[in-house]
Amino acid sequence: MAKLVNSETRQEIEVKDGDSIIKAAEQLGVIFACQDGMCTSCQMEVTEGMNNLSEPTENEKEFSMKPSERLACQCKIKKGLVKIKVY
Ligand code: FES
Repeated sequence: MAKLVNSETRQEIEVKDGDSIIKAAEQLGVIFACQDGMCTSCQMEVTEGMNNLSEPTENEKEFSMKPSERLACQCKIKKGLVKIKVY
């Protein structure tokens, strides 16, 4: 099991290795709309464990985000711990 953590509230949600983080991120406060990498409403900052997430998708590369930012709807968690900051 991997773990997604809100770095500010310290709330933690377990996620199966290899699964999408949408449900867990939603519980941690990330707002979703399209869930398809098109609207950026789920943009978040990854404060720890970026390497534990899947590679950025083509949709994510379309947007100019900081290297520490990802679209939560596009991320799968590979393993371990990932800490996020919700905007
Ligand atoms: S919910 Fe629209 S980009 Fe993620």
